Amino acid sequence: MMNVDATNNNIVLSNVGMIFPGEQQVEALRDVSFTIRDKEFVSLVGPSGCGKSTLLRLVSGLIAPTTGEISVRSKTPAQAQADVDFGFVFQEPVLFPWLTALENVILPIQILGKRSPVKDQEVIAYARQLLADVELSGFEKHYPEQLSGGMKQRVAIARALIYHPPILLMDEPFGALDEFTRDRLNLLLLHVWEKIRATIIFVTHSITEALFLSDRVVMLSSRPGRVMSIVDVPFERPRTFDVRFTQEFTELTAELRHMLQLREVADDGQP
Ligand SMILES: Nc1ncnc2c1ncn2[C@@H]1O[C@H](COP(=O)(O)OP(=O)(O)O)[C@@H](O)[C@H]1O
Ligand SMILES: [Mg+2]
Repeated sequence: MMNVDATNNNIVLSNVGMIFPGEQQVEALRDVSFTIRDKEFVSLVGPSGCGKSTLLRLVSGLIAPTTGEISVRSKTPAQAQADVDFGFVFQEPVLFPWLTALENVILPIQILGKRSPVKDQEVIAYARQLLADVELSGFEKHYPEQLSGGMKQRVAIARALIYHPPILLMDEPFGALDEFTRDRLNLLLLHVWEKIRATIIFVTHSITEALFLSDRVVMLSSRPGRVMSIVDVPFERPRTFDVRFTQEFTELTAELRHMLQLREVADDGQP
């Protein structure tokens, strides 16, 4: 175990490198170091293929880094995974079509069985509460095919939270949704996060979305992904959409966009 203060440094990456082996070996990440505090909301932003999803898989112990170390709540990622420390939300909601919204939310508890941190008697009430939190009261008995894309993604969020994970990993969760739905779900996610107070790592292509949601934004360069910059987001919470129309927000957005573009140009033609 690494000597890490679990209260202040919830997730610590130290010089993490990831090379996928094979005939065409791929260096996905190089020398990535950053820490995420307990209950912090951090976004990972970078061009497609720069290793954002790989980073989430490394943090959650699904794969092991080629070099460097990762600590999650003072444990190895594999141990954190075994302790059910992570909730996942992906771009596709992956709901089971033959289960209702409520049944889909409860499913992880049934799969976890004895390892579940939620007691049997409490599961249904808590699942209903989570569905209410994501504004789906009254849709408990609906099947996925009866729900819109945004509603399905809200069910997926409720499902990820059912076992009280201290860390929520979100991989472009709103990337497939239209802009209006995405905006609404951004606000809703902030509400939910204020309630559950989990640590969130949020992957997105959208600088606007990252700045609106996060405490800090980790900017990654194109492959191999390296940390270009870690940006503190200065806007007060709770946030409303108004912040996105302020000059400060517009300027910060432009600054980050510029940073990504400059780097892309500088990297052109480099091995
Ligand atoms: N299992 C794997 N085997 C080989 N290469 C992989 C594997 N997973 C990801 N990669 C490569 O690693 C790079 C980063 O992928 P990924 O983390 O999915 O990027 P992002 O999520 O930022 O778009 C890509 O070039 C991808 O092709
Ligand atoms: Mg990805």
